[in-house]
Amino acid sequence: MKKSQSLKVTLLAGAAIAASIMPTLATAELYKTKCFACHQAEGAGIPSVFPPLAKSEWVNGPAENLIRIQLRGLMGEITVKGAKYNSAMPPNAAMTDEEIASVLTYVRSNFGNKADPITAQMVKKHRNEVGKPMLAAKDLIDPAKAKEEKKDQ
Ligand code: HEC
Repeated sequence: MKKSQSLKVTLLAGAAIAASIMPTLATAELYKTKCFACHQAEGAGIPSVFPPLAKSEWVNGPAENLIRIQLRGLMGEITVKGAKYNSAMPPNAAMTDEEIASVLTYVRSNFGNKADPITAQMVKKHRNEVGKPMLAAKDLIDPAKAKEEKKDQ
């Protein structure tokens, strides 16, 4: 290979690596600007004020719950990892479908969580809920029951 050719290959490889790292950085940035103030570093939350995202049964449960919480907000009593919270989370509907999908995927694959990614397509399906009243935990799919159903299959 000529020297100029190998330089070209190196530059292309560098660009490909940068492009593959960039989305992750952008998503971490989204978490910092949109969620961090309440859910804190590593999704730890603040006891009895802001529920944790780390190892939360909601975060690792049905994707639909997480999408709808972003689009409509959430208020009233909710139990997360055995502790009760009774507060309110405003909707994040100003984010695009892509942004919501990537921040939720980020949360579902960090902080000790392990759940399937969420796509912009999945978010789009629920877009028509924007503007509807804030949700309560009872409007969501109970993650404990969702787990049971999965076991039955
Ligand atoms: C202004 C504070 C605030 C911001 C910002 C915020 N949340 Fe929340 N979030 C809350 C509160 C408070 C609750 C519990 C609401 C209740 O008591 O009904 C909650 C609940 C949740 C839940 C369900 C319970 C749990 O802990 O698993 C998820 C999932 C969630 N938020 C994800 C996010 C994500 C992702 C972002 C950023 C895109 C975000 N939140 C931004 C305050 C916030």
